[in-house]
Amino acid sequence: MTSPVQRAREARPVVRPLLLRWFDRSKRDLPWRKSNAPYGVWVSEVMLQQTQVERVVRYWTKFLERFPTVKSLAAAELKDVLGLWTGLGYYSRARNLHLASKELVLRFGGELPDSVDALLTLPGFGRYTAGAVASIAFELEAPLVDGNVARVLSRLLELDGVPGEKTREAALWAAAEVMVEGARPGDWNQALMELGATVCVPQNPLCLVCPVRTSCRALAAGRVDELPRPKKPPKRKRLEFAVAVARRGQEVLLARREEKGLFGGLWELPGVELAAGADGDAALQKFLGKKASIGPELTVVERTLTHRDLVLRLHAISLPKRLAKPPAGYLEWRWVPRAEIGALGMSSAMQGALAEAG
Ligand code: ADE
Repeated sequence: MTSPVQRAREARPVVRPLLLRWFDRSKRDLPWRKSNAPYGVWVSEVMLQQTQVERVVRYWTKFLERFPTVKSLAAAELKDVLGLWTGLGYYSRARNLHLASKELVLRFGGELPDSVDALLTLPGFGRYTAGAVASIAFELEAPLVDGNVARVLSRLLELDGVPGEKTREAALWAAAEVMVEGARPGDWNQALMELGATVCVPQNPLCLVCPVRTSCRALAAGRVDELPRPKKPPKRKRLEFAVAVARRGQEVLLARREEKGLFGGLWELPGVELAAGADGDAALQKFLGKKASIGPELTVVERTLTHRDLVLRLHAISLPKRLAKPPAGYLEWRWVPRAEIGALGMSSAMQGALAEAG
């Protein structure tokens, strides 16, 4: 197995001229590409994080009309900067842009500094933004990796690894660093991003028209659809309840939750959330009061929700016929004939639990 850096070294001499030639012919006509003035490049790169190019064009033009220089931005009030940002979202980007402009005036005479290390000391500058400004505005051989570049390099160099994993991120930055060495580093970085945005797209990439298809390791290996690997799904929270199954002839005890929160306003078998490792019997006794008699655990029902793994520990319960006040967290409770259950609003997780309770 060759390392990512070795693969990048091998690919570089073939891929660089092909991709740069393609970029010269096919690059999109974007207003900040008319001049590589550092301030305009910086604003565009901040706007382009999390936002599509087409949307950014309008915002960038207005922003530069209103604040044409670092100094004019530094002199502005934050509310006016945020006003121009309305609709772009991720407002901390605008706050950082404004803060950084003030620092640029104080520390760098109102100019962007021409080194990655100096850029990294400014608010809102991470490796990506520093690499973009350094390479596009100052023609420094500084690498950058965004989502588009990560996808292109994963396929071109056939890099495995799950997005977000440290070793994968390190491999991508190391490969990008090798490949940016040479002439026109700003165009090179933009060509990689442009290829990712227009040809090497996530679904159904246009490999037939790709300028570097003959060098693409994933294409040769038939793995374009597999790479990059999908993100790990977010970790779901485990939510565990001790649940009361109380019956009276053909009736079952159901309770309606308070309006707010998970399952708010829905009917269910009454239950109490358990802390990790807590004893269900004791929790139910406390929840239902002394008059309840807590029977054995009948079954455990597990359900997967979008953000949670739900675990319901069902216990057989006997309660006096006349119900006292509903327990904490519920608006009402009553004995419901089986035939009427279907007419009540109930989560599908709870419907499943009821079916399993028998
Ligand atoms: N995405 C973010 N910055 C870009 C740039 N300069 N060119 C193309 N796509 C981009």
